[in-house]
Amino acid sequence: LHAAYGGVVPELASRDHILRLLPLTETVLGQAGLTWPDIDAIGYTAGPGLAGALLVGAATAHGLSFATGIPLMGIHHLEGHLLSPLLDPSAKELRFPFLALLVSGGHTQIMRVNGLGDYDMLGDTIDDAAGEAFDKSAQLLGLGYPGGPAISALATHGDPRRFDLPRPLLKRPTLDFSFAGLKTAVLTQVQKLRSANTLDDRTRADLAAAVQAAIVEVLVAKCNKAVRDTGLRALVIAGGVGANQALRDGLSELARNQDVRVCFPAPSLCTDNGVMIAWAAALRIAAGHTPQAAGAFSVRPRWPLTALTE
Ligand code: KG4
Ligand code: ZN
Repeated sequence: LHAAYGGVVPELASRDHILRLLPLTETVLGQAGLTWPDIDAIGYTAGPGLAGALLVGAATAHGLSFATGIPLMGIHHLEGHLLSPLLDPSAKELRFPFLALLVSGGHTQIMRVNGLGDYDMLGDTIDDAAGEAFDKSAQLLGLGYPGGPAISALATHGDPRRFDLPRPLLKRPTLDFSFAGLKTAVLTQVQKLRSANTLDDRTRADLAAAVQAAIVEVLVAKCNKAVRDTGLRALVIAGGVGANQALRDGLSELARNQDVRVCFPAPSLCTDNGVMIAWAAALRIAAGHTPQAAGAFSVRPRWPLTALTE
């Protein structure tokens, strides 16, 4: 649906969600062998994100709750990402506090996770997110959306050293990120290659490998700094870019060198999924938060994760 546009088109997404959400819910219940009376609560994403898509999800959840009498819990999308690694067997011994690298299409953040709903932001992106850098570079190379998987597949045949791309803020004493300059460097390089008529398959693979290497090097270096700054010895990876194999390899090496435990959830738990929202709702209810009855609702397209920390 979105590939032709090189990114998500909000109106197309929310209209498509209207068609799919209820049938999807029925299918999932059927596959799980459950009926509505088996369900204790309905977790839904209350923000942040695209207003249209959030409204469709919230309206569906409230409608289902109204019809079934099952209470609701609105969840912060990024909290879902942050807590999803705890679902993975690799995180069995993980205890609060720990570090989290959250790398998705819209976010690149390093957080200190003190407990459920208690998050300190240590580093954030000042412009583009890592996922966006993958997606925009992919678009410049004529690859589809989402760009991350496409770049990483092409990069497996490429030489990351042929093009020297910038590593923004790599050496600065900050945990913040910046990827806009990288995108500009890729654009300049692609324009140069196009006008010289030398953007062949080999060259595209080399450029893809260089983009991936630049992003991964910055992400790993900042994780390394966060480990040294905080003294915390556990790091979890969350968000779609966490599915990237080169990033996993880089962080595994960091784990060996720095004696840190790095928890990589299965790639299916890294990219957006419903399980992480259900899981965050379940953890909140278990911790004593009361689910709500259906009624008037609003969504929060902008909602900083740190606002959850009371
Ligand atoms: O967390 P996510 O599924 O959705 C958001 O909440 O944004 O992340 C989507 C992002 C996209 O930018 C996509 O290109 C990137 O994750 N991504 C990857 C990989 N799989 C998904 N980036 C690099 N390598 C991958 N294997
Ligand atoms: Zn996400």
